[in-house]
Amino acid sequence: MRVPMIAGNWKMNKTPEEAVVLVNELKGLIQNTSAEVVICPTFVALGDVLKATEGSSIKVGAQNMHHQDSGAFTGEISPVFLKAMNIEYVILGHSERRQYFFEGNNEINKKLAAALKHGLKPILCVGETLEQREQGTTYDVIKEQIQKCLENLQEFNLEELIVAYEPVWAIGTGRTATKEDANEVIGFIRQQLIEVLGEKLSLNTRILYGGSVKSSNIRELMDMPEIDGALVGGASLDALEFSKIACY
Ligand code: 13P
Repeated sequence: MRVPMIAGNWKMNKTPEEAVVLVNELKGLIQNTSAEVVICPTFVALGDVLKATEGSSIKVGAQNMHHQDSGAFTGEISPVFLKAMNIEYVILGHSERRQYFFEGNNEINKKLAAALKHGLKPILCVGETLEQREQGTTYDVIKEQIQKCLENLQEFNLEELIVAYEPVWAIGTGRTATKEDANEVIGFIRQQLIEVLGEKLSLNTRILYGGSVKSSNIRELMDMPEIDGALVGGASLDALEFSKIACY
């Protein structure tokens, strides 16, 4: 049984103070949902957001982390710090990290191993660019991302792995993949997971869709059999809009 998940990726938005205001609004609005709701603020707001979510069902995740426990990596955040703060989730391999910070599948693989080692629940992002889609290489790209990112992780407990399909051309553009397209690619991702992780684990792994999810399209996406939830960017910054998505 895959419990639906609605996760908000706040990206580089909201000061700690603004983040707490948003959490307090969300707590009042998100009362009745069967979905697991996760919000991912910036590193500097994590502490305040954790405190503000106490006593509510809203869970908290980070947007990235380094793969090493500690060391001379100026400006980086270790999985040990996230775990020490009681952060539950961490987004890894987001396309903005791949695009602007040159993270590749090998690096993301190391981050996944580190997150799993420390008991953080990773939300692994995969997805093709517009160019790759137009060249007809969507499935090749995703196959490679899944295989390389999940290489040699057999020693870890992967039951808490979450995958998000985020077509790069749909992020922040207002262009959503059609529900049929998203469903089909997510079905393909599950087939790839079966090859790498085996059937039992893969059939229980939640796979989210991300890319211009709004309150107006969440229902039709969630009605598709392969789509287990959403990773929401822009629309997660507005309390009313995100609460409508969370309570779809
Ligand atoms: P938007 O919902 O703003 O398109 O962003 C999606 C995303 O990147 C979530 O991680």
